[in-house]
Amino acid sequence: MKTSTTQGAVSSRTAVKYQRISKSFGHTPVLRDIVLDIPGGSTTCVIGPSGSGKSTLLRCTNLLERPDSGRILIGTDAITDPGADVDRIRTRVGMVFQKFHLFPYHSVLDNVTLALRQVLGKSRDEAVEVART
Ligand SMILES: Nc1ncnc2c1ncn2[C@@H]1O[C@H](COP(=O)(O)OP(=O)(O)O)[C@@H](O)[C@H]1O
Ligand SMILES: [Mg+2]
Repeated sequence: MKTSTTQGAVSSRTAVKYQRISKSFGHTPVLRDIVLDIPGGSTTCVIGPSGSGKSTLLRCTNLLERPDSGRILIGTDAITDPGADVDRIRTRVGMVFQKFHLFPYHSVLDNVTLALRQVLGKSRDEAVEVART
C-alpha cells in the first residue's frame, strides 16, 4: 500500500494523522504500524492491490473499524482515545462507500446535502451552495 499527496493551496496543517495503526482480522494482520500524515488542503491517494488494507484504513479513520493499536487524530482530536466524542469528531469526516449506498428515493442533490442539513444543521440553501462548489 502506498500513498501519494498533491498539495493544494489551502492549509499546510495536518488534517489526519495516523500514529502506528495496526489492525488484524483473526490471525491476518491487515495494517501494521501505519504512520502517515495527511496534509490539510491536499488530495491524497492511497494506492495498493485489492485486499491490501486501503478500505480498512479508511474505515478506521472514523471508527467504522477500531484499530487494535495506535492513535488517529482528526485535526487535533484523537478519535481513538477512550472517552473521545466520536459522533462530534465524525461530523468532520466524510466517506463515500465503494458502492455509493445513496438513498434511491432522493435526488443526487438531496443525497449530497443530507448530512450537511441533518448533521451539521445547515439550511437547505447553505447546504446546496456547498454541494454545488
Ligand atoms: N470485517 C472483516 N472481517 C474479516 N476480514 C476482513 C474484514 N474487512 C476486511 N477484511 C480483510 O482484510 C484485508 C484487507 O481488506 P480491505 O481493507 O477491504 O482491502 P482493500 O480495500 O485494499 O481492497 C482483506 O484480506 C480482507 O478480506
Ligand atoms: Mg477497498
